[in-house]
Amino acid sequence: MKRMINTVLDRLQLGASARNGLNYLKYISSPKLLRRNARFRRNGAPDGLPVQTPGQAYLICGQYDLEAMYYNGRKGAEWIIDLLEKNGLDMDGFNDILDFGCGCGRVLRFWKNLTHTRVYGTDYNPSLIKWCENNLPFARVSVNGACSRTDYSDNFFDLVYAISVFTHLSMEMQSFWLDELIRITKPGGYIILTVHGVSRTSALSEEQLKQFRNGELVVRGEKYFGTNICGAYHPRHYLERLAGPPCSTQRFPSPSVSSPLIMGLRGSGSKPSGFSSDAIAFALRIFRSISISSSVLAAGW
Ligand SMILES: C[S@@+](CC[C@H](N)C(=O)[O-])C[C@H]1O[C@@H](n2cnc3c(N)ncnc32)[C@H](O)[C@@H]1O
Repeated sequence: MKRMINTVLDRLQLGASARNGLNYLKYISSPKLLRRNARFRRNGAPDGLPVQTPGQAYLICGQYDLEAMYYNGRKGAEWIIDLLEKNGLDMDGFNDILDFGCGCGRVLRFWKNLTHTRVYGTDYNPSLIKWCENNLPFARVSVNGACSRTDYSDNFFDLVYAISVFTHLSMEMQSFWLDELIRITKPGGYIILTVHGVSRTSALSEEQLKQFRNGELVVRGEKYFGTNICGAYHPRHYLERLAGPPCSTQRFPSPSVSSPLIMGLRGSGSKPSGFSSDAIAFALRIFRSISISSSVLAAGW
């Protein structure tokens, strides 16, 4: 049913506005959710930081529930910690970390208590960055261009993560941003990206599903890149091809230190709900000694 509705909306090119309008109407006619949001805002978030607006929640998560956004953000932060721990790493051991596409700080806010690590966030939406600037004073946030080099210097970050960002970019933008994130990540540093995998393919049309099953990247609503209307779906084989020779791919949590590129694939078993990482997440480890040129990676995209 969902697949059929999406196909019809796509064909009529009514996708974005129709879906947004319907969802907003649903929200304002739901007294239960309106009351729940009012209560959450009145009581304040458990971490003591300001609560975002329902409009921001919709922009970021595609739903208006503030409490759900808060707890999903917490799960996201816990998931990153867990992924790092499984690889013998400690968030507090990093000097500089970046939340790329940080939005209104759904995950970023949970790094408030890091004592040693400098926390950065960037997003191309200035209003979301303004909110972070005003409400998450521990984070150094900035606006980046939709598809242009950031101001960060080469080899700067120990860890860059992008949750639910590559899932909403066109193929060209993914290629551009992967190169840029690699540029600003230290050799030996880590990049964690989340992608839509097989568990998220119910939204695809039969034709798109066929493409996905053939190992091709599928991007729906490409003209709405950067928003939740645009959805990119990364088949596992596609990600594995991306690593390419001489890189190796393997499941977390057993990265091989001798591989130039480690791509960890998480099955759908241990996923945080409400995240695009629901399906698969992969991390790239970058080594100075072996240059992973953009052309090597781009070949797989
Ligand atoms: C689904 S939201 C996820 C936000 C945040 N990562 C989180 O998990 O809450 C996608 C975010 O990616 C941002 N984004 C999209 N295209 C971008 C780009 N080219 N550069 C930086 N941020 C981008 C959007 O503004 C939005 O905040």
